[in-house]
Amino acid sequence: MTEYSCIRTETQGRVATITLHRPEALNALNSTLVRELIGAALAFDADSGIGAIVITGSEKAFAAGADIKEMAELGYSDMYLGGPFPGWGGFERMRTPLIAAVSGFALGGGCELAMMCDIIIAADTAKFGQPEINLGILPGFGGSQRLPRAIGKYKAAEMVLTGRMMDAEEAERSGLVSRVVPAAELLAEAAQTAETIASKSLPAVYAAKEALQVAQETPLSEGLRFERQAFAAAFATEDQAEGMRAFAEKRPPEFTHR
Ligand code: CAA
Repeated sequence: MTEYSCIRTETQGRVATITLHRPEALNALNSTLVRELIGAALAFDADSGIGAIVITGSEKAFAAGADIKEMAELGYSDMYLGGPFPGWGGFERMRTPLIAAVSGFALGGGCELAMMCDIIIAADTAKFGQPEINLGILPGFGGSQRLPRAIGKYKAAEMVLTGRMMDAEEAERSGLVSRVVPAAELLAEAAQTAETIASKSLPAVYAAKEALQVAQETPLSEGLRFERQAFAAAFATEDQAEGMRAFAEKRPPEFTHR
């Protein structure tokens, strides 16, 4: 069992949960937290016994951004060489679906971490923002690219250029979150969603997640070509045969993830 100082991990059946835990700093993402988060997430990703991962924080903060105190003394070369936060590339290439369960502040790197996930479930207390502009910098974990893709150019520009926060209701209306739930139900709802995903065929889930990612990154024609191949490949799996047989026999499928 790996010992962590800034996160907590837990598994229940095929679902893993990673809880950011730096209560003294509203879960600000320092180098230790980021290293532990990425390490834990990649280890779960490599485990075919895990079918979905929930990432969450505390009631007050999912994460209030990159750790400003740690970054304050760094210069260009420090940041360009990877700074205190190398390794996001591997995190972004993970195949296991990630569900961000967001309560309280998701600011700067916290908002960007949520946007690296596949599904964002927000408590009605959630607040999203990219306040880097107030610090004389700009988003650095993908915010200037993912936010306009999620909510459109004009809302994203207002948030990135003014640092304004969005509450959960506005975030849902804007397409930034999948769903808003009462704060007291956040973890149960996220766990339920994760369990639902983890009960499906793992090869089909990996392929579906990859196809959704391709949709963010390529022109439609290329995405459709990818989907056609991935769809055909699904017919090489045992789970496809089982899923369709179970439908015909009017029973739940028993996927073996093969
Ligand atoms: N980095 C380091 N420490 C942080 C932090 C951060 N991002 N956010 C909060 N903290 C610390 C505070 O310094 C404070 O510590 P002390 O008690 O030792 O002073 C503690 O967490 C509690 O915070 P506050 O007292 O400020 O709590 P609040 O409820 O009054 O305000 C807040 C909450 C509005 C979120 C405020 O803390 C805040 O504005 N935080 C900074 C948000 C921010 O600018 N995030 C962007 C960071 S840059 C970034 O993320 C770059 C990137 O894209 C990768």
